[in-house]
Amino acid sequence: MTIFPKPGILQSPLQFISPSLYNLLPMTQEPETVELSIQEFSSRGYGVAYIERPTAKPVEVEVAHTLPGDRILIEMRRKMRPPKKGRLLEVLTASQDRVETRCSHARVCGGCCWQQMDYAAQLRIKEKRVSDSFKSAVSPIIPCDSPFEYRNKMEFSFSENRAGAKYLGLMIAQAEPYVFNVDKCHLCKPWFSEVLNEVRSWWEQSGIQAYNPPHDTGTLRYLTLREAVRTGQKMAVLNISGRAEFAPPKAQIEAFVQAVQKTGPISVFLRIHQANKGRPTQFFEMHLAGPDHIVEELHLERGTLKFKISPISFFQPNTLQAEKLYNAALSLIASYQNPVIYDLYCGTGTLGMAAASQASQVIGIELSPEAVLDAEVNAARNNISNISFRQGDVGQVLTQLQGESNFRRPDIAIVDPPRAGLDPLALHHLKILKPKAILYISCNPLTQAANIENLLASGYRLKALQPVDQFPHTYHIENIALLER
Ligand SMILES: C[S@@+](CC[C@H](N)C(=O)[O-])C[C@H]1O[C@@H](n2cnc3c(N)ncnc32)[C@H](O)[C@@H]1O
Repeated sequence: MTIFPKPGILQSPLQFISPSLYNLLPMTQEPETVELSIQEFSSRGYGVAYIERPTAKPVEVEVAHTLPGDRILIEMRRKMRPPKKGRLLEVLTASQDRVETRCSHARVCGGCCWQQMDYAAQLRIKEKRVSDSFKSAVSPIIPCDSPFEYRNKMEFSFSENRAGAKYLGLMIAQAEPYVFNVDKCHLCKPWFSEVLNEVRSWWEQSGIQAYNPPHDTGTLRYLTLREAVRTGQKMAVLNISGRAEFAPPKAQIEAFVQAVQKTGPISVFLRIHQANKGRPTQFFEMHLAGPDHIVEELHLERGTLKFKISPISFFQPNTLQAEKLYNAALSLIASYQNPVIYDLYCGTGTLGMAAASQASQVIGIELSPEAVLDAEVNAARNNISNISFRQGDVGQVLTQLQGESNFRRPDIAIVDPPRAGLDPLALHHLKILKPKAILYISCNPLTQAANIENLLASGYRLKALQPVDQFPHTYHIENIALLER
């Protein structure tokens, strides 16, 4: 049995936030203590229990850091609006999947909500989520060889209360956007935590304020740390407000660079967020020290590709697992000879570039202009000449392409949309273009299954479902689906 801190002795996650911030939390009523059994997971991956009522529907309560099968004691506020949140006080009987957590922040942190679950059970649940979404059998999920220290990018927030207490770290589970101080995060390599602690020490003596979003005052917003896992190159980006009256003194910027570089060679940048009323926020970057970019590699079965990563470039957050994801995806279309491939929602073009050696032509389509610039640089860096990129909305670019004199119909469409899935225009074009194969990669099996149901009604058959675990200790899942006509 795991004993959790008793209420009232300042052991709650809220000990990390100031009394003044605590007062802002939506918890103004007297707490009650309730004993419950966790039945299932919520859509955010938290445990869900139900309080039975004799004459009304059971009340749903969400409790972070719990698992189905746990019998728990929680504290909750009586008048809280649904979904009600409970604060875990004690695990009375542990689920058979419960394990000791590696991280000292595991009961507080909103970053990984499944660390208390055995990794084999995490995989089992993720695989079942995909199979339930599609009501179909799936290939065994591809696990992460190392379920810790896998993230190549982290963002840590600066936060400060009215009394001046400083917090640099991650958000508190079920109390977002409140931040607690992270000493060590096990999802990334140890150097991330070393830099984080150096930056916190620098901040404490700097006299600089954290940015305060509601008032648009203060300076420091967040610290981004990135690593090119295959080359070991490192990057730190200090994100600050663009308001001139809160600009940090030059001496403090120099002190920041020194603090970061105490941990070893690293590229250092300042990124300025210029908020403009009624207009989109503008961003300005200053290169402060070290090389002006880092280079990541993907070691794929089809060869090695190199990618330039600048402070804002998108790159898959788990490099080693991205290699497995791409290998698995490309093996599903390996039998097609010299196809024309469309890489829709291509980001920086990594997947299209990996597929280019098999293709006669690849066209990548991507909304973000910065990602398209990176994609073009990366294609040249890897000497890939049969790929080109179009910037814009997938649906609209597909409309334009079909009106062009050199238009070539795709044999294969690779689609990797955001969580919301394909929009109606993109779906409409896929049905008109009728590629022989659609390779659909998604981080949301629900929208993926809904889109695929739509495509099945227009002549496609579902040939493969391959889940991949990119993010151990979180409820996130990546899934590959292959459709063929
Ligand atoms: C999940 S990422 C795919 C990244 C890429 N396939 C990879 O593996 O690195 C989704 C991408 O879709 C882009 N995107 C979002 N909405 C879009 C739209 N309507 N049209 C084109 N691209 C879009 C995003 O900017 C993002 O780069």
